[in-house]
Amino acid sequence: MDSMTFVLFGATGDLAKRKIYPALFNLFLDQKLPKSFSVIGVGRNNCTDAEFQAKVKDSLYTFSRHLLNDVSKKQEFVKLFHYCQLDVTDPEGYHKLLKLTVKHEEEQKIAENRMFYLSVAPQFFDVIALNIKRSGLGTTNGWKRLIIEKPFGHDVSSAQALNEKLSRTFEEEEIFRIDHYLGKPMVQNLEAFVLANPLLKAIWNNQFISNVQITASETVGVENRAEYYDHTGAIRDMVQNHLLQLLMMTAMRIPEKKSSYDIRNGKREVMESIRPLTKEDAQAQIVRGQYLSGEIKGQPVVSYSEETGVQAQSKNDTFIAARVWIDHPYWKGVPFYIRTGKRMQEKITKIVVEFRNSSDLDSVEIENTKPNLLTISIFPNEGVSLQLNSKSLMSGKIEPINVHFSASQRDLPEAYERLLLDALSGDPTFFAHWEEVESSWKWIEPILEAFEEDFVPLHHYTSGSMGPDAAQQLLDEWGHRWW
Ligand code: BG6
Repeated sequence: MDSMTFVLFGATGDLAKRKIYPALFNLFLDQKLPKSFSVIGVGRNNCTDAEFQAKVKDSLYTFSRHLLNDVSKKQEFVKLFHYCQLDVTDPEGYHKLLKLTVKHEEEQKIAENRMFYLSVAPQFFDVIALNIKRSGLGTTNGWKRLIIEKPFGHDVSSAQALNEKLSRTFEEEEIFRIDHYLGKPMVQNLEAFVLANPLLKAIWNNQFISNVQITASETVGVENRAEYYDHTGAIRDMVQNHLLQLLMMTAMRIPEKKSSYDIRNGKREVMESIRPLTKEDAQAQIVRGQYLSGEIKGQPVVSYSEETGVQAQSKNDTFIAARVWIDHPYWKGVPFYIRTGKRMQEKITKIVVEFRNSSDLDSVEIENTKPNLLTISIFPNEGVSLQLNSKSLMSGKIEPINVHFSASQRDLPEAYERLLLDALSGDPTFFAHWEEVESSWKWIEPILEAFEEDFVPLHHYTSGSMGPDAAQQLLDEWGHRWW
């Protein structure tokens, strides 16, 4: 891997502490970082290198998946870190950052390869990108790359405006937009899983598949993020990015020879084939909900409207279910159902593919035959199970049997670790391309408008349930049920 400088904006923030430092440390221990590597942490507060290194070390104790018995390794790792105090809106400060970067490049014989990671509030994305350009930080003899986190805009026009500003400094292939769902091992496995199994590949279409269900339920409520969440809702927080990414990964068709281009192209094709919604369609195809008080794992919890920081009478959505149609010959007539919500019964992330029932059995047997189900579990277990029908050796009747594989979560690299490694290596496969982001906002926008105009009713659901009854009815209408 090329030598490089990793410039982290938001170096004293929560994400850095919980995810980025542990991920870098795990890569370091696995000898996956380049030999010459330096991290410059950028933050608002005053802090010496030693204080910064102590903060990084602390975060490893709490959040690293590797146990830290080897003190010398830890010390060796934090020595890679340097700090630069900077007000990101002040163009002058960037000259100091440039000087520091060049100093370490020279001292550590690092080529002018610069990775900029913006782990900051989204309103700073464009000003930082602009200052990187103006200060000369972005003018290098090597490569430069940008990693950003969601939210990438809050509707079509803000996303376009942001992209336009970023693209004044960075080319599309230099921008790595993190969607951490794309870093989850079973999500990364999806295309390989279908491609590597001729059995599945042959039946991955509307002739055999009845419907697909994507669930990302959570037990947590709004936590301490009411200010953000009350303007975002489940639709922007989870559906526009994570759930649509899961849908794209499930429905895409890719050629045998898969490259990063093929995968992203396959996803884009799916996203562009999703049937657009009018506000009227949104009424019929989308269920929005908000949690009431209830119990989660035996503990009482308050309703969304009683959460600290939530506006009185807020009509914000904490639950979304949708029936999505993909206008592509392969998927004609196959509804893709998606649902996500806070304060639900369990934290589960999974994709269930329900197959059509066999028409070769006699009618009594058909009635008793359960559909074949392929469940791809992403959380809490990473695994796959397949429900088949088999004749009971005792009764002679057809009964469902399950074939099950579950990977142990322990020791699996975390999403951030995989994604950071890909970005450091310059592999964009599991990052969201601008075209995917733009078309997902285009699909979402009429839904946002329908919500704003109260066109889609807001259903309430008890905390600890699996969402409002209307989400069940959405499937009933087509003779389906949530698995
Ligand atoms: C984040 C959302 O992107 O994903 C959170 O902002 C949500 O609201 C989280 O809780 C869920 O991620 P995971 O990996 O725990 O399923």
